[in-house]
Amino acid sequence: MDARVFTEEQEALVLKSWEAMKKNSGELGVKFFNKILEIAPAAKQLFSFLKDSNVPLEENPKLKPHAMAVFVMTCDSAAQLRKAGKVTVRESNLKKLGATHFKAGVAAEHFEVTKLALLETIKEAVPEMWSPEMKNAWEEAHDQLADAIISEMKPSS
Ligand code: HEM
Repeated sequence: MDARVFTEEQEALVLKSWEAMKKNSGELGVKFFNKILEIAPAAKQLFSFLKDSNVPLEENPKLKPHAMAVFVMTCDSAAQLRKAGKVTVRESNLKKLGATHFKAGVAAEHFEVTKLALLETIKEAVPEMWSPEMKNAWEEAHDQLADAIISEMKPSS
């Protein structure tokens, strides 16, 4: 088992920054996607709602749910890691998430892109709170969640 421990302080860093930014979740979602596409323009082809869309990113109504899923599930992951020492997303949900991403053509490397975009977006949203400890806490919560999803990225049976 992983010897890394996720502390109460780390959970608090994730949750307090999320509290501070979530009121601007619309703007946050657009920034997050813009960063993903800056780092990896080809990622646009993966998202059914972006691929054939001529609507500017900030007007695309479908973008926010995915962005928020990444933020909220990473926060949940922080709470789970502190309580249980591991990601405890329900098995059936994890299988579905894995299958959806597999079917959409998402690869493990893409999670590195969304992680960078996530960290940059948070840093710019709460510059007064940002610290190496806060970065580390979000990164850890993200990585453990991403690993759990990646391990289920296979065809659904
Ligand atoms: C769909 C969460 C990372 C691309 C979804 C859905 C959720 C989700 C909840 C909807 C699932 C469903 O309808 O069954 C997450 C979380 C992530 C993550 C929590 C990271 C921790 C990524 C990455 C990519 C990606 C790295 C690729 C760059 C997609 C695509 C879909 C999707 C293409 C299908 C959306 C569509 O075309 O309608 N994701 N995701 N996701 N995700 Fe992610």
